[in-house]
Amino acid sequence: MDVLIHFFVGLHIIGIAALLGGFLTQMKAIGQGTARFVPGMLHGALTMLVTGVALVGLHQAHGYPVNTVKIGVKLALLIVILGLVYVKRDEERIDKGLFGLVGLLTTVNIFIAVLWT
Ligand code: HEM
Repeated sequence: MDVLIHFFVGLHIIGIAALLGGFLTQMKAIGQGTARFVPGMLHGALTMLVTGVALVGLHQAHGYPVNTVKIGVKLALLIVILGLVYVKRDEERIDKGLFGLVGLLTTVNIFIAVLWT
């Protein structure tokens, strides 16, 4: 049933696309100080959480090894991202530094996923 794992990795990547894509749509607005967390960023972050947890479960169900430290770090960073995006979802203008932090943490998580082997 490796196909199920690959399917969830696909969904996980769609989550990254929504989260990082939403961030990238606001690049011009960041410079103008009018950036906001668009709904796609919240949905993307939630998708990352649900598919990530499902992937851990599927790996364990198959008896595949799970790098718990790597997953723990990714989860911790995602919780910060999710918390910020959720709490500030209705604010019209987000502080540049805070907005940039979400993009930075998302990018860091991508490189943790692909470089930490
Ligand atoms: C913004 C947050 C996240 C990003 C950007 C991200 C990114 C990625 C990427 C690019 C992959 C595919 C590459 C690979 O297989 O190594 C992946 C796989 C995976 N992610 Fe995430 N992830 C995030 C959050 C999470 C969370 C919160 C969990 C678990 C609770 C998680 C669990 C997994 C698992 C189990 C895999 C596949 C197995 C593996 O690491 O080999 N991810 N993630």
